[in-house]
Amino acid sequence: MKTIPADYRPAPDLLRDRVILVTGAGSGLGAEAAKTYAAHGATVILLGPIVRELEMVYDAIEGAGHSQPAIYPMDLEGAHYQHHEELAATIEREFGRLDGILHNAALLGARMMIEQFDLKLWARVMQINLNAPFMLSRACLPLLRQAPDAALIFSSDAVARHGKAYWGAYGASKAAADNLMQIIADETETNTSVRANSLDPGPVATPMRRLAFPGEDPRTLPQPADLMPAYLYLMGPDSQGVTGEIFQAR
Ligand SMILES: NC(=O)c1ccc[n+]([C@@H]2O[C@H](COP(=O)([O-])OP(=O)(O)OC[C@H]3O[C@@H](n4cnc5c(N)ncnc54)[C@H](OP(=O)(O)O)[C@@H]3O)[C@@H](O)[C@H]2O)c1
Repeated sequence: MKTIPADYRPAPDLLRDRVILVTGAGSGLGAEAAKTYAAHGATVILLGPIVRELEMVYDAIEGAGHSQPAIYPMDLEGAHYQHHEELAATIEREFGRLDGILHNAALLGARMMIEQFDLKLWARVMQINLNAPFMLSRACLPLLRQAPDAALIFSSDAVARHGKAYWGAYGASKAAADNLMQIIADETETNTSVRANSLDPGPVATPMRRLAFPGEDPRTLPQPADLMPAYLYLMGPDSQGVTGEIFQAR
């Protein structure tokens, strides 16, 4: 496991002129990352299933005077490959470039034994946590390859690295997503400007963490804002040459 340099201080204009797509941008870490990327100069495309949530993030970015973001409502569970292709084509038409994707959206599903694991829920979790990042990466890689410096970030979790009882589809999907990241990193390592890495935020106070550990006091946990240096480091030029790695946010 890697960590970002201890003394890392992102430049205020780290992501100036870059176009960055954030999935699951309506809440938790995705919302915080979208606002942080915008605050560092990026034009952010906010993707998520609930327009109301995306609009709140949009308003916060616009209200702060940052580059106007875009909202792209999309439910990754129901999206076919054609929808991912349409998204890539829209980005190319509207912005002419794509410099990064934060694959942040995820479904926790339920924590239960494999013998009881609901078959439909297994498929839903795999669709959102693994198939969607695959399809989105596949559709957007031609555009990313054209960017002078492009970054893909996958969202990892400790349960990806060692299977743990009751983490079922979520754990398996996160392990496979890390492997997908390494495949993309290997395939883009030479003669491209594209890098791909995974980032494990660790326990952080978000709606998903509340769902997984309802008895926990969220005030005892790091807040999404505390993790943003790592999200900036891996998205911006300071991580040039770093690819195929799994990072811990702190
Ligand atoms: N919080 C932690 O302690 C922790 C630890 C390790 C890893 N992570 C990872 O960090 C990432 C962010 O999670 P979080 O903690 O910030 O939880 P979160 O607030 O629940 O965020 C998950 C995001 O995914 C979106 N999403 C879910 N289903 C979707 C779908 N069908 N289509 C599009 N978007 C969908 C959600 O959108 P809506 O809210 O609009 O439904 C939400 O914005 C996840 O990949 C998670 O696995 C979190």
